[in-house]
Amino acid sequence: MLHEMKHPVSDVALTILRAQDTCTTAFRQQTQRVALMVLAECLRTMPIDPVRVTTPVGEADGCRPVGRLVVVPVLRAGLAFTSAVEQLCPDAELMFAGLARDETTAEAHWYMDRIGDVSGAFVVVLDPMLATGGSVGQVVARCLERGATAVVVGCIVAAPEGVAEVEGRFPDVRIVTAALDSHLNDVKYIIPGLGDFGDRWSGT
Ligand code: PRP
Ligand code: URA
Repeated sequence: MLHEMKHPVSDVALTILRAQDTCTTAFRQQTQRVALMVLAECLRTMPIDPVRVTTPVGEADGCRPVGRLVVVPVLRAGLAFTSAVEQLCPDAELMFAGLARDETTAEAHWYMDRIGDVSGAFVVVLDPMLATGGSVGQVVARCLERGATAVVVGCIVAAPEGVAEVEGRFPDVRIVTAALDSHLNDVKYIIPGLGDFGDRWSGT
């Protein structure tokens, strides 16, 4: 299931991310804004329990998180969500998946797997760019193999090809994106996209 955020705050930030002349400082600032909104939407389906709370003047219904919450940023670009994780779910277990796309074939290859046992966990996989879906697809598969109860994918820009790949393989996985773009070009970049997110966010 795809959830495309249609929100003026994230759309304004995304416009600045897309512009080719945006400097690294502004790119990071606007990424923080969009990442926070994407992560909040990913957490909409996190497990919670009802609780009662006593206010200074009465009783109210409330809720609290229940069970394991695991967040898996996909390196490098997924590190851009770190500040959002600190703000919204600072007690989440953080695990890391390192994958890099081959520049010629665009196939993603693992160089680091720090996803441990995620038995019973609600897992949020974070990668700003969902292009072919090769990177995220491999990470979702590994989380499910290692016991995740539910997996949500959060990204900033997605291509229809990547969404179809992930939805085709994992019909129960929810995908949250700030924008769903038009298509991939012949070297598997998202069009119109924002270029190479990892390079622009890293300032390299
Ligand atoms: C980019 C991006 C995603 C991946 C998306 O990573 O950050 O992880 O490509 O493409 P896909 O959906 O076709 O797999 P890259 O491999 O360039 O590594 P980086 O994050 O280290 O820049
Ligand atoms: N990775 C990126 O950073 N950008 C794209 O358009 C595709 C993959």
